[in-house]
Amino acid sequence: MRDEFEGSAMDDLRQKYLGLIAETADEATLEDLRVRAVGKKGEISLKMRELGKMTPEERQVAGPALNALKDEINAALAARKASLADAALEARLKDEWLDVTLPGRPRRQGTIHPVSQVMEEITAIFADMGFSVAEGPQIESDWFNFDALNIPPEHPTRTEMDTFYMANQREGEPPHVLRTHTSPVQIRSMQAQGAPLRVIAPGRVYRSDYDQTHTPMFHQLEGLAVDRDLSMANLKWCLEEFVRAFFEVEKAELRFRASHFPFTEPSAEVDLRCSWVDGQLKVGEGDDWMEILGSGMVHPKVLEAGNIDPKEWQGFAFGIGIDRIAMLKYGIPDLRAFFDSDLRWLRHYGFAGLDVPTLHRGLSR
Ligand code: DAH
Repeated sequence: MRDEFEGSAMDDLRQKYLGLIAETADEATLEDLRVRAVGKKGEISLKMRELGKMTPEERQVAGPALNALKDEINAALAARKASLADAALEARLKDEWLDVTLPGRPRRQGTIHPVSQVMEEITAIFADMGFSVAEGPQIESDWFNFDALNIPPEHPTRTEMDTFYMANQREGEPPHVLRTHTSPVQIRSMQAQGAPLRVIAPGRVYRSDYDQTHTPMFHQLEGLAVDRDLSMANLKWCLEEFVRAFFEVEKAELRFRASHFPFTEPSAEVDLRCSWVDGQLKVGEGDDWMEILGSGMVHPKVLEAGNIDPKEWQGFAFGIGIDRIAMLKYGIPDLRAFFDSDLRWLRHYGFAGLDVPTLHRGLSR
């Protein structure tokens, strides 16, 4: 009698819990159920405790049956838990569905500033020639900005560059300036990486100057290559490649004019053959020449300041005014508008955010 009774009681338990588990719709309720059934004080656990009061014969039947029931309920709980998790994920995927192929909403989209665009373009071109991008601080010690570049304190360049000096100079530290050019990054890169080396350093520079073609903050891009047996010929090839790629023309003619910079010897200013047709710039043809950058072979003293032995290594360097060639390439008349944050100007001259310049796809399309 007792066996039968126990048997049907266990069936009832099985039915009850399997039914409840199947009906459960969330994980919290399922956990409650687990505690009620197989938790320490759960119904099945309490039944197991009663085993002790049974006769050995009874126990032999009831023990395995209870264990089997417990296993069965645990398995059902685990299966239900997994299917609830699946359903939750399914619901979330449905809910958070996003069609990534939809076009953006132009009204809400910002644009890429021509200066950023041109920096990206130049970086893509030089990356293709094996140059990596270096950075330096905008508040720079006058040693890096001047002395290390062979510009001693009495040199006229220091005043020509209309330098901003920092008001609060720290005791025991060299005076600091807002860097007047990106050339100090040459020194920092040589010190950090040694030779051989190929870097470009785009960034902000500062001079106290303001008119239609000058703003107190503007952008330059420095280039530096250090290797054995580098010459002006390598520099010329490199710049011609750059200009053709940048202006997206088949042919570009450069003219090297002897010049002077303290940090290069020899030094050259580089002009680009061009013409103006109806106010539009044409690169590669015509009778005009336009100065686009300064360059030269790195002065031995500058290599030494970068801890590189000038008897073993040579370098060439160049400095490009980014804002200026952005104006040229994209026909932008007034430099000051670059920094006015006028949304109408940005919408007109800006670039779509997802059009990242690459060489293979075309820089500016
Ligand atoms: N630092 C110079 C300037 O701001 C530009 C320049 C000229 C950079 C010649 C160079 C260079 O690297 O070789 O006017």
